[in-house]
Amino acid sequence: VKARISLTINGRRKRLTVDPRMTLLDLLRENQGLTGTKKGCDFGQCGACTVHIDGRRALSCLTFAVMQHGRKVTTIEGLSHGEQLHPLQEAFIRHDGFQCGYCTPGQLMSGVACIREGHADSADEVREYMSGNLCRCGAYPNIVDAILEVKKEGRKV
Ligand code: FES
Ligand code: FES
Repeated sequence: VKARISLTINGRRKRLTVDPRMTLLDLLRENQGLTGTKKGCDFGQCGACTVHIDGRRALSCLTFAVMQHGRKVTTIEGLSHGEQLHPLQEAFIRHDGFQCGYCTPGQLMSGVACIREGHADSADEVREYMSGNLCRCGAYPNIVDAILEVKKEGRKV
């Protein structure tokens, strides 16, 4: 049995027919070709699959696509505006906030949420509110610096 849903992905309204067992992560990657969102564990443990749903961060591997009917989903592909990188993407480059880059889309989506939620006032706070995003390369100090800088500059995220 398939389910019909409509949702907005990166500002575009979509009407889709999906297997009710399909996760949002698989819908984005397999069905929509939005492979910027990464599958690390597929188990809610790593944060690589973080997206925004109605403006709040969420682990796309832990939610079924059908549950997002009527909602707005933003992925890493929707974070920048055309050629213009998002301020946090620019800060990640300045601060060397990534090495292999696998965790980076999730870090960026969580980092933006962390700033918007008002949890980026100190390194300790950022570390706590970014603790769901693992980085095997150990880029943590640089990720924290990038987030703190964007918060301090007061740039709109
Ligand atoms: Fe979703 Fe790891 S892939 S938390
Ligand atoms: Fe490699 Fe984070 S940059 S896992």
